Amino acid sequence: MATKRYQQKIIVLGDSGVGKTSLLNRYVRQEFSQNYRATIGADFLSKEITVDDRHISLQLWDTAGQERFQSLGMAFYRGADCCLLVYDMTNLKSFQSLANWRDEFLKQSSPNDPATFPFIVLGNKSDLVNERVVSEAMAQQWAKENDLILIEVSAKEGKSVEEGFQEGARKAMKRE
Ligand code: GTP
Ligand code: MG
Repeated sequence: MATKRYQQKIIVLGDSGVGKTSLLNRYVRQEFSQNYRATIGADFLSKEITVDDRHISLQLWDTAGQERFQSLGMAFYRGADCCLLVYDMTNLKSFQSLANWRDEFLKQSSPNDPATFPFIVLGNKSDLVNERVVSEAMAQQWAKENDLILIEVSAKEGKSVEEGFQEGARKAMKRE
């Protein structure tokens, strides 16, 4: 019997510089670069994974955090199965923007059941221990209030990156 293949569309959102492109490069290519190059509009990557014995073809959409490039990215929100909200734990503003990103995503993508749409929050740059300004307790508190899963990650070290995307895929599968 042929195994069913699932397709999932995952959108990655968050302020400019939080590390969205870096997380995707780490996850898909096992690479990391210190250099910053702004994403313009949106980029697309794919990856085949297995979650709970199911084969999933992930379509990963990397979007622009810079305001002047954002509107181009919004066109891709529609049809998403999961959204990863990324902040930089050394940048308080990027954490405070999360609610905005979530609301904008729901507005633009208009999913069937917005109240249960799966979001995963990724707190990036956990390697910058001495520069941290968003404590884990503070972030977990917000995640709990909003009924979201939060995972602290580092694109640089590769810490928990796999887990973050895997959790996103798992949550999206639950809605099938
Ligand atoms: P936009 O495309 O403008 O929205 O930015 P982005 O969110 O894609 O950020 P990007 O991945 O380009 O990373 C911004 C900067 O942060 C780069 O210089 C990266 O090298 C750096 N960076 C990303 N992730 C990490 C991390 O986990 N640790 C550290 N120390 N630096 C990181
Ligand atoms: Mg980028």
